[in-house]
Amino acid sequence: MSLQFPDGFVWGAATAAYQIEGSPLADGAGESIWHRFSHTPGRVANNDTGDIACDHYRRWASDLDLMAELGLKAYRFSISWSRLYPEGTGRFNPAGAAFYERLVDGLLKRGIEPYVTLYHWDLPAALDDRGGWLNPDSAAWFADYARGAYRLLDDRVKHWVTLNEPWVIADGGYLHGVLAPGHKSAWESPRVSHNLLRAHGEAVRAYRADGRHRIGLVLNLEPKVAASDAPEDVAAARRGDAYMNRQYLDPVFKASHPPELAEIYGEGWQQPPAGDYALTGEKIDFLGINYYSRGLTVNDPSAWPVRIRTVKNPGATYTDVGWEVVPSAFTELLVRVAREYGNPEVYITENGSAFYDPPTARDCRVDDPLRTQYLKDHLAAVHAAIAQGANVRGYFVWSLLDNLEWALGYSKRFGIVHVDYQTQVRTPKTSAHYYRDVIRRNGL
Ligand code: BGC
Repeated sequence: MSLQFPDGFVWGAATAAYQIEGSPLADGAGESIWHRFSHTPGRVANNDTGDIACDHYRRWASDLDLMAELGLKAYRFSISWSRLYPEGTGRFNPAGAAFYERLVDGLLKRGIEPYVTLYHWDLPAALDDRGGWLNPDSAAWFADYARGAYRLLDDRVKHWVTLNEPWVIADGGYLHGVLAPGHKSAWESPRVSHNLLRAHGEAVRAYRADGRHRIGLVLNLEPKVAASDAPEDVAAARRGDAYMNRQYLDPVFKASHPPELAEIYGEGWQQPPAGDYALTGEKIDFLGINYYSRGLTVNDPSAWPVRIRTVKNPGATYTDVGWEVVPSAFTELLVRVAREYGNPEVYITENGSAFYDPPTARDCRVDDPLRTQYLKDHLAAVHAAIAQGANVRGYFVWSLLDNLEWALGYSKRFGIVHVDYQTQVRTPKTSAHYYRDVIRRNGL
């Protein structure tokens, strides 16, 4: 049976600046925390860095041609803050900004709609030296940068995203230290989460003053499902949901924080001033949802500080980064957001999978049956959610290209287009051909 998507459904692909661009210091750009982090030995697998990545900073034009060949209607990318403002605040760098102008113009010329993320984890290092996201001034720094980006591109860009995945920034960057800037603190993490949402709110306010189109926030949401009926596991799943999902959804949509956060962070928790909810709950035009997997959760008192552990589901398929493949959880998540958060307009701003691909493309072909199946099943899951009333308007596959998978370096491949990092040759995988047909038919 064929599944048709609504007319005007937006079909796209997503990337992020540090993961693909390379040339991190070109044209007067400042260092970012990811540049520093990846250049610190032992932080990234194989000591990989984003120095070259997919060399997209120089190959952008042929990459846009590739997007056009795949029939993409939209492209979600992020701006590197330190290309526009090398010191994070103050001095604007026109040469760095020109890259994004070229990119946006090139997209529009090819009939591809730009969706621009302002922050995908690459804070200017100069701002980290001033406390980074721990500094309450970070919200104002971000709003200033956002204003600069709106001034530059709002005449051509109609969809803006403030932050990509504040949970990952607070969890990976400040609680467990596995991502830049590499801190490990249960005191810092909740403060960073709050400052991120304040920064998001300030950027939305700035947009209402200066911008003419639409702006939203991207959250990565992961259903937490208790692995057993034991009350400890049920409570663990609830804690996990509060920590990963409601910590961000609630301040944005419900002017509250989940009560479980006090239990999770203990002495580190500080209830934000009630007055801040007007800012963090500033009305957004759409919610971006990144979905990859669910977490089958058990109670684990030794797992600091949330006391949860994700366990394996025997018989399930797992991706190359160890994530369970569960399309039905995607449908449930979208329906839950619709029911519990006022059915906001939603874009799936990321969804995709890492699977092992042959290291080099043979005969200009890369077969990736598992990724293709993942894509198919998750698109069907989105379709099912729409049929149940979820207001989903578009889908962006993660990712267009194989790229730097953060602390995992180049060892994991999420692209629907294979990248040979020696030659920079791009080869659309079977999944890309499949996706092109989906777009052409506006359905499965
Ligand atoms: C991020 C991407 C990342 C992907 C796969 C998301 O958390 O936004 O940058 O590559 O997941 O891990």
